[in-house]
Amino acid sequence: MELKNKVIWITGASSGIGEALALLYAKNGAKIILSSRNVKELERVKKQCEIEEKNILILPLDLSQHNDMEEKAKIVLEKFSRIDILINNGGISQRSLVTETDLKMDKKIMDINFFGAVALTKSVLPQMIKQKSGNIIVMSSLTGKIGVPMRSAYAASKHALHGFFDTLRAEIWKENITVLLVCPGYVKTNISVNALNANGLPHNKQDASFNNAKTTEYVANKIVKAVKKNKKELLIGGKEIMGAHIKRFFPNLFFKIIQNHKEKIGK
Ligand SMILES: NC(=O)c1ccc[n+]([C@@H]2O[C@H](COP(=O)([O-])OP(=O)(O)OC[C@H]3O[C@@H](n4cnc5c(N)ncnc54)[C@H](OP(=O)(O)O)[C@@H]3O)[C@@H](O)[C@H]2O)c1
Repeated sequence: MELKNKVIWITGASSGIGEALALLYAKNGAKIILSSRNVKELERVKKQCEIEEKNILILPLDLSQHNDMEEKAKIVLEKFSRIDILINNGGISQRSLVTETDLKMDKKIMDINFFGAVALTKSVLPQMIKQKSGNIIVMSSLTGKIGVPMRSAYAASKHALHGFFDTLRAEIWKENITVLLVCPGYVKTNISVNALNANGLPHNKQDASFNNAKTTEYVANKIVKAVKKNKKELLIGGKEIMGAHIKRFFPNLFFKIIQNHKEKIGK
């Protein structure tokens, strides 16, 4: 797939995997829309992209504000007239037990990680259908395949993405629109630092399990290649990825392994 002049909208573009994707697509000549809440960080990423002002747009948004999404899509179309790739990457993790987590927190995480992606995608689909083309990338997680202690709402939000976007793919292929679900294991970003604890405050710790994590550049490269090959699902990471396979083929062994996982993350 030729990336030059493709219009690519990335959420969670202010850091981590979203930032690496923005830099990689910019290097390949794409036009980029950078979205997240932190405008200062988006400005920093924009500068690093080093592309002409007319080919890049900072569009701040909060994924929990679902009613804003149609207006945001309008702004993108006013500037670029089309959207070739939507990357639903923005998200937030969790470090708290089910028993200590208020329902408000569960809803907050679902609102950002699941309904945020759903609302944004719905605002972009009419244009992709009109164009008769488009690629939708959805950042799930290994936790979209398995349940891990301390991440109940996070895992639920990522599992939910699979149900929704697998269904969308089955409905929308006739319009020449593809859907890729990406399931990374550990990636070196601030995801654990920004994760919410039981009180809704940042966990503020880089978990030891991230010591051997993949780099964001590695992950971004894999994603770009997977879209080109029209892959439907992509598992990326180190040996932790085996968790998805063990659960599928040896579920009882998996449940034995995972019940001790909480010690590893230091709680
Ligand atoms: N790192 C990993 O090991 C890993 C593994 C599996 C899956 N993932 C997934 O990868 C995606 C990117 O995470 P990352 O690892 O790159 O972590 P990160 O560096 O913490 O990035 C998260 C991004 O999401 C944005 N975001 C958070 N809440 C938002 C909201 N309410 N509205 C709009 N944007 C919001 C943040 O920007 P602002 O703060 O500026 O809003 C930031 O750009 C997430 O969906 C995460 O679940 C990560």
